[in-house]
Amino acid sequence: MKCLNTLVAGVAMMALATPLAYADDAKDVNVMHWWTSGGEAKAVAVLQQGVAKQGYTWKDVPIAGGGGDAAMTALKAMLAAGNPPDASQMLGYTALDYAAAGKMADLNDLAKKEGWDAVVPEPLKKFSTYEGKWIAVPTNVHSSNWIWLNKGVLAKVGGTQPQSLDDLFALMDKAKAAGVVPIALGGQDWQEAVLFDSIVEATGGPEFYKKALNDLDDASLKSDTMKKSFDNLKKVVSYADPNFAGRDWNLATAMVIKGEALLQPIGDWAKGEFGAANKVADTDYLCQRFPGTDGSVIYLSDVFGMFDVPESHKAAQVALASTIMSKEVQVDFNLIKGSVPARTDVSDEKFDVCGKKGIADLKAANADGKLLGSLALTYGAPPAISNAYKDVVSKFVHGQIKTSDEAVTELVKAIDDAK
Ligand code: BGC
Repeated sequence: MKCLNTLVAGVAMMALATPLAYADDAKDVNVMHWWTSGGEAKAVAVLQQGVAKQGYTWKDVPIAGGGGDAAMTALKAMLAAGNPPDASQMLGYTALDYAAAGKMADLNDLAKKEGWDAVVPEPLKKFSTYEGKWIAVPTNVHSSNWIWLNKGVLAKVGGTQPQSLDDLFALMDKAKAAGVVPIALGGQDWQEAVLFDSIVEATGGPEFYKKALNDLDDASLKSDTMKKSFDNLKKVVSYADPNFAGRDWNLATAMVIKGEALLQPIGDWAKGEFGAANKVADTDYLCQRFPGTDGSVIYLSDVFGMFDVPESHKAAQVALASTIMSKEVQVDFNLIKGSVPARTDVSDEKFDVCGKKGIADLKAANADGKLLGSLALTYGAPPAISNAYKDVVSKFVHGQIKTSDEAVTELVKAIDDAK
């Protein structure tokens, strides 16, 4: 009996480690994602309701952890166990890697029927198609080079919106003098790397960003501009409160919402948290591009990678894909999520000032060649390189790498090793 109990406990533990078995019901669709914050949960409910309207049931597989590293680790384990979900949230090169390994579905019939080719912007197609086949469905376009300011706190410290890094430092000095935390940082490697993406662009401009963090050009990575970027990172981080290590991104957003901090430098998923707290753009908070990056968009997009599932699951998977791509869902979802639609044929009418800016900026940056892939979130390069980048940036932020010179040397080495 004891033996049986131990066995049962062991199986239960394994079930926890691999959280999902295929739901047998052909009406169920198993979906993995990392949207577990207050705002994210409201946004994901829009997708769930859309699936329900089509007569299917979204079986939720949430794996908490902003940036998605925990979810991607869980996903790898599920695939290794031969037990993938029907679909999973993914970023950047991840879906392409799984496609190269022969794991993804072919959505071309649906894509053709619904005309996806004509409405999904070209840069996104690169991450949702593989060898001419649609393998993933984009829900949105996020961008990481934003800052979010508490409007009341800005007035209280007597500041104006910063347009350059120097302005930002001067503004943060004012906040400090007024006894307000100048910058709400989330101290996790992916958030630090998101911040560094913006700082690299603010320091060196879009061309430099592209060469260094998308093309991985050796001379750019080793350059004085990259050293200067690390200097600027150190300076920005020096304005954070002492407790930022390990902090979740949404807790940092909450500091701004509550007026405990002046601003947060992070992508437009922060907007979902302001919305969930009933805060209104331009009334309670202000959004703007990270100082020194106006005109450019450092983008990422949450796609749902669709796995090659058994025949009995295909209809449910197609219903999910079609739901995500519908114009109505793209609007309703992105209004809550803080991102902008992944279709070019959607009106910005319902969006607030920040949403409208997001949509307009994306269009302009795409036309001007200033649409840049976030290296932090694997739109600049595949996950192994993005991980190497996150590691070096985070070690530098937390003092394990001491100088900007050392950081540059470590970054070049880590990227080389990961190639
Ligand atoms: C995702 C966003 C998400 C954020 C925080 C990013 O990687 O692209 O959709 O809101 O992580 O969880």
